[in-house]
Formats: sequence, structure tokens, C-alpha cells
Amino acid sequence: MNDLLRRDLKHIWHPCSQMKDYADGILPLIAIDRGEGAYLIDVDGKRYLDAISSWWVNLLGHNNPRIVRAVREQAATLEQVIFAGFTHMPAITLAERIVSIAPKGLSKVFFADDGSSAVEVAIKMAFHAEFNRGHNRPLVVSLQNSYHGETLGALAAGDVDIYKRTYAPLLFRTVQAKSPALCGDAEAIEDMRRILEANARQVCAVIVEPLVQCAGNMAMYDPGYLKALRLLCDEFDIYLIADEIAVGFGRTGSMFACDQAGIAPDLMTLSKGLTGGFLPLSLTLATEDIYAAFYDDYLKDRSFLHSHSYTGNAIACAAANATIEYLMEGEILRGNRAKIEALKNGLAKIARISGVKGARQCGMIAAFDVTGFEKEARVGACIAREALKNGIVLRPLGATVYFMPPFVITADEIERLCDTTARIVEKL
Ligand SMILES: Cc1ncc(COP(=O)(O)O)c(C=O)c1O
Repeated sequence: MNDLLRRDLKHIWHPCSQMKDYADGILPLIAIDRGEGAYLIDVDGKRYLDAISSWWVNLLGHNNPRIVRAVREQAATLEQVIFAGFTHMPAITLAERIVSIAPKGLSKVFFADDGSSAVEVAIKMAFHAEFNRGHNRPLVVSLQNSYHGETLGALAAGDVDIYKRTYAPLLFRTVQAKSPALCGDAEAIEDMRRILEANARQVCAVIVEPLVQCAGNMAMYDPGYLKALRLLCDEFDIYLIADEIAVGFGRTGSMFACDQAGIAPDLMTLSKGLTGGFLPLSLTLATEDIYAAFYDDYLKDRSFLHSHSYTGNAIACAAANATIEYLMEGEILRGNRAKIEALKNGLAKIARISGVKGARQCGMIAAFDVTGFEKEARVGACIAREALKNGIVLRPLGATVYFMPPFVITADEIERLCDTTARIVEKL
């Protein structure tokens, strides 16, 4: 183990990790020196294709020059100002841009720092809007197999057992409806109807990850479910929260996943790709109707008093503006069409390998499951390790391997990624 890693392990506690894995070398800890487009380069100069966009955040490549410039200029002008009582151009521009591309009706923008916080904000807004209208509706309904983050409120809304089970005694009560990704649209909608009927006066919001339950093993479903869910929420007068933190900004092939269903939620959460992967920032978008439930004289006690110290950070907003400007020009998303095709071809080759099941794709997300291994074999860790040896960053979710590359990847690089992964899986 080199000196840098020894120093890291002496003090740093990494996320989503059993630290002993690093110490034992079961998973290597790689010290990255710099990024360049779709690549990460370690301190020894080895290049790795970042096939997971560094936890799904990096849309436009590492060190993207346009975002670098925007961040640099903003840092030299205004880095941060308290966002209560003050505003600034980068935040105003960002709010205007987001509203111009978001599903219709989402015209109010609340700022926070990360995805989990945006989800907490959305849940609090939904509950509080109803509360301000004289209704006590503390129940949130989500989908089985869903993931909405890991702060306590966001964790309560999610359903991925490994993250949730230990903290169950700390979490507020939520109800999970069947997931269309696991049982099909019709059964899932019927189950949602049953739950809403049974709890109609209790439920303030339904929260879903549109089209792809990413942390839930990249489980995918059709836009038709979202259409039916929108109608159901209207019927029961319940807010629909679309958590687009992982799927927003072109990841599924359209600017937002909801666009493919032609629906507009009442609240929408955004983060991850929002700043092109440069800085932590999240947004919760709300309708005028929700906003109006809070708008009153201060002493009436109806304000939304949620805050974070770094809310509306000016440098993060500048990074987001550069990212969105880039995406709005259209060339990147148009260019993704050929890459989506390349991903499809590569995935088709992998799907032919014996033991590979459930090959699936939604835009720039492709996934498959590797079967026939005991849990103890930790096949995901084994694939991640082999991929690193081959200069590729993969982070399987258990036995589910997925690709979620930055949009600057080329079709040739996608082919190499799929061919190399196929070779690794064949040799397992
Ligand atoms: C759909 C979804 N919601 C919320 C989150 C939480 O975001 P963060 O990790 O920034 O707190 C994630 C993270 O993966 C996510 O995929």
C-alpha cells in the first residue's frame, strides 16, 4: 500500500463502504489526481473510463472547460452570501432557466445542497402545504424498491433494505406501493389505488423515481405508469413528487424523465447532474398552488422555515448555469442518440453471455444482472476490481452491473466499455 493510501485510511471514513475492504485489498482504494472528459487519472498516471459518472453526477465530462470557466469567474466575484434576505444573479438566472425547461406548472424553486435534502424539502412542503390548509396528512407513499437518499426523512421514504433496515426504529411511517418495474404497470397502479383509497385522508404525497429506480438495481418501467399515477393523484387530491435527482438532465433520453410521460408533478427534486458534477447543489421545484399555501403575513405562522447554511451557493449556481446552458443548446442530447444506440449494441452482446439476465436500457443507462453466484461470492466487488485493472470504473449494485457514463463518452469508448465488461463477465 502506498503512502497516500495509508494516510487516507488513517483518518478518512469513506461513504457506502466497509472500510476493512480497503485495508484488506478486497476493494482497492484509488487515489485520483485529475479528471479529463470521460476519464479519471490516478496519481500514477493510469487512466480510468468513468462508466458511472462518479455516482451519476458528471454529465459533461470531468474538468469541462466551460464549467471550469464559470466556476472560476464566479469564485472571483461572489462565492457565497446568506440566501435569506439576499439574492444574486447566478441564482436568479438558474431559477429562470430551470423553470423554462421543467415540466409545465413548476414555477417556484427552492435551493438546498444535496439530493437527500431536496427530498426532505419536498416531503416537508407537501405535508406543510396541507397543514396550512387545515389538513393533517402525515403519510407519504413511495414505491417498493425505491431510493430517495439517506438522511432520515429521505431514508424513511425509500425502500432499499440494506440502507434502511438498521435505522427502522428512527424513521417516520411511510407506505410502499408495488413497483411497476417489478410487477408491471397494471398491478402497480391497482396497488397504489388500494393504498390511496385506504389512506386517502392521511396521505400528503406520493413520491416516485420516474422511469428508473436507480439505486434499486436500475429497475426500469414505462412512462405509461407515470401517466396513470398522475391521474390517480389528481383523483385523490394528493401531491405527486417526481424525484429526478438521478434521471434528470437528459439521462433517460429526454431532458426530464417525466417528459416521456407528458406529465407534470406537483413537486420535483433535482441534484446530481445539475452542476455537471462540479459542486453540491439541489433544487426542489413546486407549483404556484403549493407556494400559495405558505404565502401570508409572517405572524400567521405559515412560512416555510427550512434552511441550510449553503443554500443558493453562488459558485454552485454558476456551475449549474453553465451545465444547463450547455444542455439547452441541444447538441449534447442530440449527440446522445448515437451513444444510446452504441450502448444498445454493446448490451446486446453482453446479454448473450450465459448467466447474464435482465439486460435493460433507458437512454444513457444500461444494466444487466449476473446470476448463479452466492451472496457471499460478492460478484459485484469482483467485477469492480477486474474493471479497475482494465481501466474502467464500475460500481455494481450487488449482482447488477450498470453503465451510466458521462455524455462526453464516444461511441467507440462505449464499445470498448461493453467489450471489456463482457470479457470480465465471461471469465467469472
Ligand atoms: C433518486 C435519488 N434520490 C435521492 C438521492 C440522494 O441524493 P444525495 O446522495 O445527493 O443525497 C439519490 C442518490 O443516489 C437518488 O438516486
